[in-house]
Amino acid sequence: MTGSIDNLLHETRRFAPSEEFQANAVAQAELYDRASEDRPAFWGEQARELLHWHTPFTKTLNWSNPPFAQWFEDGELNVAYNCLDRHVEAGNGDRIALNWEGEPGDSVTFTYAELTAEVKKAANVLLSLGVGRGDRVAIYLPMIPEAVISMLAVARIGAVHSVVFGGFSAESLRARIDDASARLVITADGGWRKGKVSALKPAVDASLTIGGDENPSTVEHVLVVKRGKNDIDWVEGRDLWWHDQIAAADTEHEAQPFPAETPLFILYTSGTTGKPKGILHTSGGYLTQAAFTHKNVFDLHPETDVYWSTADVGWITGHTYVVYGPLANGATQVIYEGTPDSPHGGRWWEIVQKYGVTILYAAPTAIRTFMKLGRQIPDQFDLSSLRLLGSVGEPINPEAWVWYRDVIGHGTTPIVDTWWQTETGAMMISALPGVTTLKPGSAQVPLPGIHIEVLDEQGTPVGKNSGGLLVVAEPWPAMLRGIWGDPDRYVETYWSTFPGKYFAGDGARLDRDGDVWLLGRVDDVMNVSGHRLSTAEIESSLVSHPRVAEAAVVGANDETTGQAVVAFVIVRAETADDDGEADVTVVDATTLGVTALDATTLDALSAELRAHVATQIGAIARPKQVFIVAELPKTRSGKIMRRLLRDVAEGREIGDTTTLADAQVMTVISGTVG
Ligand code: WTA
Repeated sequence: MTGSIDNLLHETRRFAPSEEFQANAVAQAELYDRASEDRPAFWGEQARELLHWHTPFTKTLNWSNPPFAQWFEDGELNVAYNCLDRHVEAGNGDRIALNWEGEPGDSVTFTYAELTAEVKKAANVLLSLGVGRGDRVAIYLPMIPEAVISMLAVARIGAVHSVVFGGFSAESLRARIDDASARLVITADGGWRKGKVSALKPAVDASLTIGGDENPSTVEHVLVVKRGKNDIDWVEGRDLWWHDQIAAADTEHEAQPFPAETPLFILYTSGTTGKPKGILHTSGGYLTQAAFTHKNVFDLHPETDVYWSTADVGWITGHTYVVYGPLANGATQVIYEGTPDSPHGGRWWEIVQKYGVTILYAAPTAIRTFMKLGRQIPDQFDLSSLRLLGSVGEPINPEAWVWYRDVIGHGTTPIVDTWWQTETGAMMISALPGVTTLKPGSAQVPLPGIHIEVLDEQGTPVGKNSGGLLVVAEPWPAMLRGIWGDPDRYVETYWSTFPGKYFAGDGARLDRDGDVWLLGRVDDVMNVSGHRLSTAEIESSLVSHPRVAEAAVVGANDETTGQAVVAFVIVRAETADDDGEADVTVVDATTLGVTALDATTLDALSAELRAHVATQIGAIARPKQVFIVAELPKTRSGKIMRRLLRDVAEGREIGDTTTLADAQVMTVISGTVG
């Protein structure tokens, strides 16, 4: 890591904003001064300026019980009203809110007035199903307008949504439903992905029957949007068609004010243990920072811009920069259902051309994939409308950054590399495009109102030109308010490494100007295509397979996806007992030798294990490779040395093995893999 960051720091290209961009930029340099004078007061100003408060707040930050923050606690607002009704009341009802593009090429447009009307009906549907303030609703939908409508309808009545990415399995969905005790699931028959309908409803059906009658779920109803038109099973009394309910719903619904700290959503994310964490966000502070960052980092001119974030609503980016930020700001946006390569490799660029997209927010993994396909594809489309590009989810390497700017941004658009997390709720480190001189590969500077530090292991801030651990040193409005149902884990995970400071789990380095370069996770969390996956969660899934005795998972560097999941497993051999029945016994590693299994068996087993993880957690967690090994490298205290496994997975020479209990083991492993 250090080697590669040193190379990066030799990056000398600099891109200052053009005079024209600077002159018209929404955010000017004085924002930094205003914020540093009085941080909570600055956020208070933003909250008043950007949002409508039914009851104005008189307090900004309450940090009397750290790490449990309250922002704008005596204020009241309605999040959905802020995203919808107020724009209509301000005379912007005819402005397009959503340009939705289906993967097969069908499309639908919603103005702010139309979207408001749909959300009012959906809110009435929820109320009629008995969902009320504080109740949890699981949303398991493709990227269709109903995903946005559902989220806003839940917010509108003061309930709490838990969006579960459609790529997660029935088991993962059930774990999330159970953890939050969701009363309702909103899903679809299926959605379009990669040229065909991918069913969703069967996973909901399967998830709700896990554990049989002994293990009933908390779900009372399943609302089903018709999208894929695929055949589905139906449970009478439980399942309801979305369109029937909407058609029968009252059209009027007046948004009620709720206190600023009203829970808005739970979003599960992988941590360092097997159990995903339900990250809890609340209303007023979250919406303030979502709107502030969306406006200033993307230089949003809502009357003229067409904004497109390619993120799925199943991730935090889809919450903050598809739903809440853009709609609070009255932006016009594009949302797209499908994959970038369906039906052809130029699909994204065709969409940019069709809608005249001006601001594009995407992940480095996608950029690198397009780079590999070659510029002849985007060159076939008119991308001249683009004036600002954004990046999120993982470090963007300078080569991809420059390609993004040259090929997609016709050599002129600023690129904002935005660092943040599910937990931070909104962007924390990013250039301001009209102010900052850009450095490819660096996320650069904390946003106004955000206090970032890079610390050494003792908690002392490192100086310029050194690396360490990234922390947020002061509370911020969109910060997580906790882990659902587990306050101790919240304190332990984020606030115990450096008392009083939020530890993000990322390594970072300050360059000689003090700009921040992100170095990736320092814990056992992987980042695959910008999605967080936990090594422990995949290991526990592998070990649940009857043939697996032990498993170790590492994130290996991957040119396209950033990291790739690589698993090393020790298998149990199948032997015949006296009774002749096949049986499973753990075979002593020294006698098993991997050679005991022939190559075909190994391939078949490794394919089976990859499929097993995909079924248990979801396709995104499927290991790229599974190596069957005789032993795993461990320290004398029994800790698996992932560093050595990473060396093997990345095809490097194996590093220092002096702390290994058995130095032989690495020869065996690398022999097998090589
Ligand atoms: C990584 C996604 C470098 C980081 C919004 C963080 C980044 C994790 C960047 C959070 C970036 C996100 N540069 N690394 N611009 N943005 N990360 O919760 O490791 O899905 O901790 O939130 O992604 O992932 P999450």
